[in-house]
Parts: sequence; structure tokens; C-alpha cells
Amino acid sequence: MTTIDIEAARAILRANDRGGYTVPTDRLYPFQWNWDSAFVAMGWATFDKERAWRELERLVEGQWDDGMVPHIVFHAPSDDYFPGPDVWRTRHAIPTSGITQPPVFATALRRVFEIARGPDAQARAARLYRCALASHDWWETARDPERTGLVAILHPWESGMDNSPAWDEAMARLTLQPTTPIRRRDTSHIGAEMRPKDEDYRRFIALVDLYASYGWEPAAMWRVSPFRLVDVATNAILHKADEDLLVLAEQFGTEAERSRIAARMARRAAAFASLWNQDRRIYQALDLGTGSTVDASTSAGLLPLFAGIPSAGQAAALADELEAWLARAPYPVPSTSPLDPRFEPKRYWRGPIWAVVNFMIAEGFERYGHAALASRIHQATQALMRDGGIAEYFDPTSGEGLGGSRFSWTAAISLMIDQAAVAGPGRDKM
Ligand code: DGY
Repeated sequence: MTTIDIEAARAILRANDRGGYTVPTDRLYPFQWNWDSAFVAMGWATFDKERAWRELERLVEGQWDDGMVPHIVFHAPSDDYFPGPDVWRTRHAIPTSGITQPPVFATALRRVFEIARGPDAQARAARLYRCALASHDWWETARDPERTGLVAILHPWESGMDNSPAWDEAMARLTLQPTTPIRRRDTSHIGAEMRPKDEDYRRFIALVDLYASYGWEPAAMWRVSPFRLVDVATNAILHKADEDLLVLAEQFGTEAERSRIAARMARRAAAFASLWNQDRRIYQALDLGTGSTVDASTSAGLLPLFAGIPSAGQAAALADELEAWLARAPYPVPSTSPLDPRFEPKRYWRGPIWAVVNFMIAEGFERYGHAALASRIHQATQALMRDGGIAEYFDPTSGEGLGGSRFSWTAAISLMIDQAAVAGPGRDKM
């Protein structure tokens, strides 16, 4: 196992701590992000248990009454980021965005509870279990109103994979124009060639303006949205999170809650079959606007492994598909297949490697007994950080670190891989 500098990773979390919550990196992302914080809590749990609990507690300060955990909680003002609270126009006591992000929270809660025990752990976990349950119930009612088993996202930012080629066709169909003037701040911190394009931002903000005009009311958003996509990553992460929630429900939940979680997991597991593309050997998103799957092969398509969704045969096909990608781009795991003409090795979610996705994919392969591939991905992630810095993302053709530097969730993953290596085989999995 490649050694990395544990103290450097811890120092990044400490430096990005803003008082109980961790910014993803200074300036580029100056608030608390939902799925970032869930991974970061797991990173904190490896060396500062109190701080791990606080990360999760501060995130749910932003939770809405209907259960949604917003994708950004604007704890303190900053001019470094667009779009800020004035663009979102939501009504929560602490300003928040009006959309959500992949629900890693319950997975983080289970892990923090298991490794960060202490005198008040039971009470803290019991309260946060309620928050996680409310958030999963929200996903089901707000984002799967017809109970198909699979939830849909209403904005590319909800996938966390903002400019994935999987959203290209649906975004190209948008005729909406933004009413808010676009004042990008990201490209004053990071080279524009590594970020989404201006036309992406016009569409991102047009959707924000549309939903703001409906007061962020979930049923209205669902009705009027021109962007309803069944994202593979969101559903896989939600499934894994439901699995973890069910474990927590043994201690903190009621019989009725356990049945509800189990029933939706059964529905979702069956519905996942509709996302499998046998020819492409991967899971692909479903566009509810057209009723068709989106022929884009991205790292999201490997994430059902993390949730135990594929059959053994499908898992083997996913391993073969990944090997074909790595014959083109040597560093795992590119966010878009290098065989796809839309692959761009430096542009955000159109090619670069993300440590958190690598972590989930490696855990997934391990779950299916592909131990050598899993450990190859973990080791490559560590080597990327050692050679390219603890960066936001990495070029899968060269290994170069890209985007923001001193990045919190990348540091968290290095701490988690390190802890797993120290614990050795047979350790508890996520
Ligand atoms: C950004 O601003 O780039 C984020 O990914 C949106 O949440």
C-alpha cells in the first residue's frame, strides 16, 4: 500500500474547519456541502470523533421541515461563490440552496456511530437517525411520487456530477432562460478549462430561477420540471444508505419504520434492472422526459456495486468494462468512459477521477469478491494523492491533480483508506 502523509490529510480538514462544519476547500466552495460533509464526517471519525459528530449535526441544521437535506448550507456569508442565497431565495432559518445531493448521510452516520462511540453516542445517533429517515422519506414522496422504486433528480447539481455527459441531451432540450444575471465566481479561482461551460451555467441557473418561482414546493417542482432524470449514482447511494439506515433502525427505529425501509429497498432493487445496458456492460440513467435510457457510460454506472445491486454476472461485466476504460486511460476511475467521444480528461465530471467515487467503486468490487481490482483502485487513489496532491480531482490520462487544492473530501478518503489498511482484511465494511 502506498504510504501517504496522514498528518497532511488531517491538517487539511483542520484548516477547512469553519466551526463544526468543513468547507470543501477555501474560497472555491466556502459553505457546507451535503455529500462532501458526509464523506468528511467519515474522515474526521478516523481521528477526531467529536468533530465527526459535529459535521453531521451542523449539516442537518439546514434540513427542511419536509425532510430535504439541501445541497448547500450557507452558514456564513461569502462573496466567493455564485449562486449565493440571494439567487436561491429559499425560506429556511439558515439560508440554504433549494435542491439536494446524493444522500451519503445515513452511510456516514452508521460509520461514525460504529467507530466514534462515546458517552453521548446513543443519543446523538438516535436524533440523527430521525433526520436520515426523514430525508429518505422525502426522497420517496418528493422524487418518486409514482412509486416506481427509483428516484429522479430535478437539477444536474443534485447528482453532484454537475456536467456529466449523462445530462447533455436533457440540458440541450431546455428552452428556459435564466432571469438571474450569471456572475460566475468559480472561474476566478480555477481555470475555466477544468470547470463546466458558460452554457451549462445558463441552464443550471435557469432551472434554479424556475423552481424559485414556484417557491421550491416539491409537488410543483416535479410537475413543471423540464429535467427529470433517474440518476444511477443517486439511486445507488440511496440504496446503500437505506441498507445502513435499516441497520440503525434495529436500534433506533420502530417495526413500522423497518418495514417501510425494507419495502422501498425491495422495490428499488427490482427497478434497477431497467437501468442495466447489457450491450454497454454498465448501468445508465433514465430520462423521464423521453422515457429512454441515456447512452452515456460514466463512473455513476459502476456505483450499483456499492449497494449490492448487480448479479455476480453483471459485476463481472462491470469489471470487464472498467478494464476496457483503463486500457485507454491508465488511472482509475475516469468519471466518463475514455471510449466515449465526450470524454474530456480535465473538465470536472466529463473525465477526471474523483476520490470519493473511487472509494465507493472499490468497496463495491470488494463486496463482489473482486478483491484485486478493489485494492488496485484504492492503491491508485493513494498514489494519485501522493503524486498529484490532495486535489479536488485528477486527470486519468496523466494523474495530474486538478481543480481546487487541499480538498476536504479527498483528504477524508485518504484517511479512510489508510484506516482500512491498518485494520487489515476482515475489517468492517462501510
Ligand atoms: C459547484 O458550484 O460547482 C457545485 O458543484 C454545485 O453544487
